[in-house]
Amino acid sequence: MATLPIARSTFVPMKFFIDTANLAQIKEAKEFGILDGVTTNPSLMAKEGITGVENIMKHYKDICNIVGKGDVSAEVIATDFEGMIEEGKILAAIDSNIVVKVPMIKDGIKAISWFTANGIKTNCTLIFSAGQSILAAKAGATYLSPFIGRIDDISWDGMELISQISDIYAIQDFDTQILAASIRNPLHIVKAAECGAHVVTCPLDAIMGLLNHPLTDIGLAKFLADHKKSNS
Ligand code: E4P
Repeated sequence: MATLPIARSTFVPMKFFIDTANLAQIKEAKEFGILDGVTTNPSLMAKEGITGVENIMKHYKDICNIVGKGDVSAEVIATDFEGMIEEGKILAAIDSNIVVKVPMIKDGIKAISWFTANGIKTNCTLIFSAGQSILAAKAGATYLSPFIGRIDDISWDGMELISQISDIYAIQDFDTQILAASIRNPLHIVKAAECGAHVVTCPLDAIMGLLNHPLTDIGLAKFLADHKKSNS
């Protein structure tokens, strides 16, 4: 856990991204008024039944149009350097808010380095260790996606990784933003904020779960009942 002060004062407060390719949910989050961006991945796109290059490109554009000002991660499918560059250039041309999502593999790091040098934003995905986080930051990734829920799923501590990366990035003054991913519940969001994540990307129900407290419901019911009594 953190032993040094976390140098977070230079950053904006934690951003909320929604982790889905579902346009209705993205619209709902936007209308809720807290949406800073969207992350997608090939599984989320497949879940929405979006197939074929043209449909995929159109879907990313639709997402960007709903989000307005805010980053939208679109993942490459290629796993070789040339293929990632080719796909990434096409994705980045869809909209200025597209962030090219690249897996944490050797050619992925090379590709992130190339995208960084060419002014294209990146999100390094499938992060499960502090060592990987250092490599991605060295390559200049805009965002780093540690997968909290998947680490918890194997009974390790995903949040411990966020804390460790947060300390390393502060000490080393890396400007890659920690994007806590694979969020499963509202407590993950609260803990990610405590541990110094710059961004959380969450399913809509995890965000909405932050609203809930029984004392809020009881308190509101009493306020309304008292108002009704004294005004009838
Ligand atoms: C987002 O960038 C990740 O792809 C996503 O959060 C993974 O979440 P999952 O572990 O629930 O599939």
